[in-house]
Amino acid sequence: MRKKITLIGAGQIGGTLAHLIALKELGDVVLFDVAAGIAKGKALDIAQSSPVNGFNVNLIGTDNYDDTKSSDVIIITAGVPRKPGMTRDDLLEINLKIIKQVAENIKSRSPSAFVICITNPLDVIVMALQKYSGLPKNKVVGMAGILDSSRFIYFLSKELKVPTQNIKSFVLGGHGDSMVAMLGSTEVNGKKISDLVKEGKIKQETLEEIVERTKKGGAEIVKLLEKGSAYYAPAASGIEMAESYLKDLKKQVPCAAYLNGEYGFKNIYAGVPIIIGKNGVEKIIELNLNQEEKKAFTYSVNSVMELYKNAQKIDPDL
Ligand code: APR
Repeated sequence: MRKKITLIGAGQIGGTLAHLIALKELGDVVLFDVAAGIAKGKALDIAQSSPVNGFNVNLIGTDNYDDTKSSDVIIITAGVPRKPGMTRDDLLEINLKIIKQVAENIKSRSPSAFVICITNPLDVIVMALQKYSGLPKNKVVGMAGILDSSRFIYFLSKELKVPTQNIKSFVLGGHGDSMVAMLGSTEVNGKKISDLVKEGKIKQETLEEIVERTKKGGAEIVKLLEKGSAYYAPAASGIEMAESYLKDLKKQVPCAAYLNGEYGFKNIYAGVPIIIGKNGVEKIIELNLNQEEKKAFTYSVNSVMELYKNAQKIDPDL
């Protein structure tokens, strides 16, 4: 039987997710949005491409939560994206309200789903989603690190003229300006990035500029688009997580996961490398961080904690 994948939010990311799921035949798609016409229109449009693209999955659009019943995977993008000049944190109040409503509607209908959150400010919203829904912590994960790492690897590949496949790296911590590119775990053609700096293949200051550009990668796109925020790379990143779960690929990917003592933090979501398989988050990988990375990671997770405190002020239920 085909898997059932529900997308809550049929906007820019939701529509792109639906298209990718269909092309990859990952499962049947339920595209849910409070704006029913958008969900129905996009589902129909993608379905009409099936004869051309040769995929065989069902797509429906809806604004009725009953259609989402017994989903295997739920990907949430419901919410408001950034406008130029806004930070992700500026979205907290409005998206928190939306996520509460979403959580209440999915918990009874799909208690065994693997839930991927994309709505920003990511780390705090995914934590709130887990609290509101009461779903197991290993089944509620946030999409951030894959996207940030992908941006970093892309910029490095352009600079070094090396295919992206030959670069390994992780961007961890919170999905905000304090995110941390793990330079100690960054390898190009199997060589440490610090060795490439020593050999003069890349200047230290160019590397630092790339790290900065990565941190502001989302804002750069918001500014260019003028309306809305990035959606192709975020959708692709969400799909990698869903696919690893559905096919039990046990991929090691950086995601916002619940920390219970790992990296010295408890009771908070933050970006760390995890293994995703048929049981959801099967393992959190603890990398050996150098002093500088540890300091930056701690600072980043602390800023997520601060923002979560703001969320608790907005809604004491948290
Ligand atoms: N329930 C379901 N859908 C909702 C709700 C709700 N309560 N409130 C809003 N939506 C829908 C909107 O109708 C819209 O179609 O969420 C969709 C969001 O789509 P876009 O505005 O196109 O935003 P998108 O670019 O997809 O980003 C969504 O992901 O990356 C984050 O910061 C981004 O928080 C934003 C989210």
